[in-house]
Amino acid sequence: MMNAKKNKKSQKKPKYKILFVSSELHPFAKTGGLGDVSNSLPKALKALYQDIRILIPAYPFAVKKAESIKTIATIDLPTKGFPGHLGLPAIEGKRNRVSILETLLPGSQVKVMMIESELYNRSGTPYFNSNNKEWDDNDFRFALLNYVAVEIAMGRTEVNWKPDIVHGNDWQAGLIGALLEDEHLNKKNLRPATVFTIHNMAHMGVYSQERFNALELPKHLWNHHELEFHDDFSFIKGGLVFSDRVNTVSPSYAKEIQHEEFGYGLSGLLSYRSERLSGILNGIDMKEWNPAKDPMIKQNYSIKTLIDKQTNKTAVQKHFNLPKKKNTLLLGIVARLVYQKGIDLVLENMEEILELPVQIVVLGSGDLELESRLRQWSNKYPDKIQIQLGYDESLSHLIEAGIDAFIMPSRFEPCGLNQLYSLRYGTIPIVRETGGLADTVVHASKEHLNNNTATGVVFHESKGSTIIDAITLTSLLYQNKDIWKQLMISGMKQEYSWKESAKKYLKLYAQAIKDRNKYTQHTPVIL
Ligand code: ADP
Ligand code: GLC
Repeated sequence: MMNAKKNKKSQKKPKYKILFVSSELHPFAKTGGLGDVSNSLPKALKALYQDIRILIPAYPFAVKKAESIKTIATIDLPTKGFPGHLGLPAIEGKRNRVSILETLLPGSQVKVMMIESELYNRSGTPYFNSNNKEWDDNDFRFALLNYVAVEIAMGRTEVNWKPDIVHGNDWQAGLIGALLEDEHLNKKNLRPATVFTIHNMAHMGVYSQERFNALELPKHLWNHHELEFHDDFSFIKGGLVFSDRVNTVSPSYAKEIQHEEFGYGLSGLLSYRSERLSGILNGIDMKEWNPAKDPMIKQNYSIKTLIDKQTNKTAVQKHFNLPKKKNTLLLGIVARLVYQKGIDLVLENMEEILELPVQIVVLGSGDLELESRLRQWSNKYPDKIQIQLGYDESLSHLIEAGIDAFIMPSRFEPCGLNQLYSLRYGTIPIVRETGGLADTVVHASKEHLNNNTATGVVFHESKGSTIIDAITLTSLLYQNKDIWKQLMISGMKQEYSWKESAKKYLKLYAQAIKDRNKYTQHTPVIL
């Protein structure tokens, strides 16, 4: 009976073969939200009966975490010399040959393919070496991801599976659209439809003409309507110009990037393509981020047992060596410590913030100067602010559960996941009104408090004084236990699962297929 019902449901939906290409995938490789989304969106699409497979580089730390991993194919790439150019280490004999490993995404039936190559076989993060410096051959490393995606997309590999849609994410997958259009235009091969998701316009993959040549990219793409970008070329531009559909991770950010301030020099192109550009809000993995079942926190809790959140607060204070004060507002930050996140604005006003009755914990890594300034404050006021530098998945869960409010003063935020995790954990988000933060948090104004729709504190301007005002307001709200409880409950009742957003991706795929069929010829973009 159950099966008959399931079959009926699955028959109603379109069933696509989707190749999802990303440079990060939790739990194998994650530096930020891209890793989370690459995990949870494919799982949600699988639950909608889609045949989705993920393609990522086989970083050694990713392979180590994979269970029952096996080699399923070897691919000889059409490019000749790379990566033996420009003094980069030539990998004699096998420089154009990669292996494809296959495993399953933990807790699901989603197949993950990993590209094994010497280019990925190093420690560090997906992008940086152990001194926090970008690998100087990231263009080669990620071009390889694109080239392999194209071979699979065109059905030219032993993987024996040809997708209907190739879904690329961020600049690391930006060349796929351009290379597939090249198949279509110059080689008359029917290509799959292409979707490109922008998770962050600040990272564009910009490299020189010398590198363009070394990468053996089709020469005719070097023009400013296509890949060229102010005498260099840009990976992300390939995704934006050529993909059948482009989207970003919140409706507000989709609008913002069409303006100069947020478009990083590509706002003209983005508004030119606005009919093909949309915003789909990220969801969260409701199983992994569930305070009632989360194994990484000290004490599970739900709306009905809110009092138990307190045990997590004590655990966070203990972990960070802060005085165990039950009634002091405990603020927290978990983030990549970069300009985007506005941490510097908090730092500039730290003296005044710490005069308020608060404690602060920070977990993060990134900019060395920000790290050292944070360290200085915690040395000066060890009873008020404590930090942990580095990456710690499990501690990030405990912090979400244990703090009272989460500070997210981002200069821009394509979506943001931590404010969503905060809402789910009854932790009040303090956010700047931008991108996905504006789309997901409702300010504690009088009106919103009166009609019980408020879920956090939202401030408008990106400057220090507004952050102080926002934290002062949070501290006042915290003193009124009834209002605070209502804020927590309203947040916990929000529904930011992938359910609706995954359906929107299915529609986007359908549109991409339609567009691919409609426009046989790429129309040059006029900037
Ligand atoms: P972004 O992708 O811009 O970094 P998001 O809010 O979308 O921002 O997602 C950040 C993700 O990375 C969250 O899951 C967050 O918990 C995690 N994260 C960031 N820094 C750390 C860290 N130092 N340790 C553990 N998790 C982290
Ligand atoms: C990016 C953005 C972040 C978003 C994440 C996942 O890293 O900075 O706002 O939530 O991607 O889409």
